[in-house]
This record gives sequence, C-alpha cells and structure tokens, in this order.
Amino acid sequence: MTKPFSQACENNKQPILAELTQAFSNRSAVLEIGSGTGQHAVHFARHLSHLHWHTSDLVHNHDGINAWLAEARLDNLFPPVELMIGRHALPDIPFDAVYSANTAHIMFAEEVALMMKSIGERLPAQGVFCQYGPFTRNGEFSSQSNLQFHHNLLSRGLGGYKDISQLQVWADELLTLQQIIPMPANNLLLIWVKD
Ligand SMILES: C[S@@+](CC[C@H](N)C(=O)[O-])C[C@H]1O[C@@H](n2cnc3c(N)ncnc32)[C@H](O)[C@@H]1O
Repeated sequence: MTKPFSQACENNKQPILAELTQAFSNRSAVLEIGSGTGQHAVHFARHLSHLHWHTSDLVHNHDGINAWLAEARLDNLFPPVELMIGRHALPDIPFDAVYSANTAHIMFAEEVALMMKSIGERLPAQGVFCQYGPFTRNGEFSSQSNLQFHHNLLSRGLGGYKDISQLQVWADELLTLQQIIPMPANNLLLIWVKD
C-alpha cells in the first residue's frame, strides 16, 4: 500500500515533538487517539524511545498506519487498535499518557465529552493528556481562517471547533488543564494532568 501522507503532519511534527519531549519525559506508555496517517506516531516513537507508543483509529485508517509502521520498524511502536470514541471503550492496554491531535474539531460534542471523561477516568495519578489542534477560547476564534474552517467543518457534517472552557467542564475535574501552549498556524497544545 502507498503510505498516506499529510503535509500538515510534516509541518507540525517537529514543534509538537519539542513540547512532548517535556510533557512526556517521565511517562512510559502513550495511547494515541485518532492516529490518522500514522506519521505523528512514527516521528514521536522514533524520537521518544523511552515511550511505548500505541496507535489507534477507526478501522478504515489501519492499513495506512500499518504501512508507516512497517517501514519504520520501531520496537516501541504498536499497531493500531480499533477505537472510535462513542462506540468503543478505551482499549485495555496499560498507558500513563494520552496524545490526540486534530480530533476534537472532527468529533461531535458528545464524543469529545466522552473522550475527556474516559481519559480522566483511565489515566493514573500524574497521567498526562496532550491534546493538539484548533480550539476557541471564551468563544473566540483566533483567526478569520479558523472561523471559516469551523463553518466548513459544520457544512461537511462534522463536529466543529470546541471551546477550551467546555473541554474543562467535560473533563469533570478529573483532569486539570496545566498549560495552553500556542503552536504554529493558530493551533494550541493543551496539557492536561490527572491530579
Ligand atoms: C483530522 S484527522 C487527524 C489525524 C492525525 N491525528 C493528524 O493530526 O493528522 C482526525 C482523526 O480523528 C479520527 N476520528 C474521528 N472521529 C473519531 C472518533 N469518534 N473516535 C476516534 N477517532 C476519531 C479520524 O479517523 C481521523 O484519523
């Protein structure tokens, strides 16, 4: 199979890695939700070799992820688990960190609510959830292009942007939002910690 390719992943993988290097420095196993092409997983597992990196996504993305994994041949990178939030529970594998990029604006509100709650329930104390993507803050879009993208998502029947304060409500005090890190292209990296 030809490996799927995302130019956005190529552009953002290095700035995200710089932050994950800090955030996951004392973690041992990461569950990635919505691995997409698998590019992030390969890059992060290669550079964060102290981590076991578990990929997951809807089944239709598994062949592509497996193509990236087969080429990378990394001992610390694991094949995709079928995971659709709203349909499946988080997989029964040990993890003390979660990573998810560009999923909250694709998912519907009830799916994101469930994702936040499930992660909060499953992470052990001091567990870390790194959540990357575009979000609104206090209902405000950070750019005109983000507002246009939100409406484009809605017109395609997708969930649209979520507000950070809404994510905090859904996290239901199980997760504390420790940092909001500005990233290139008007994205943010949210660092959540289980108390
Ligand atoms: C925009 S892509 C982002 C992929 C990759 N993380 C990235 O940054 O390029 C959104 C991903 O979320 C996944 N996804 C959509 N709905 C989901 C759900 N309910 N549960 C888990 N993953 C979902 C899609 O299959 C897709 O891989």
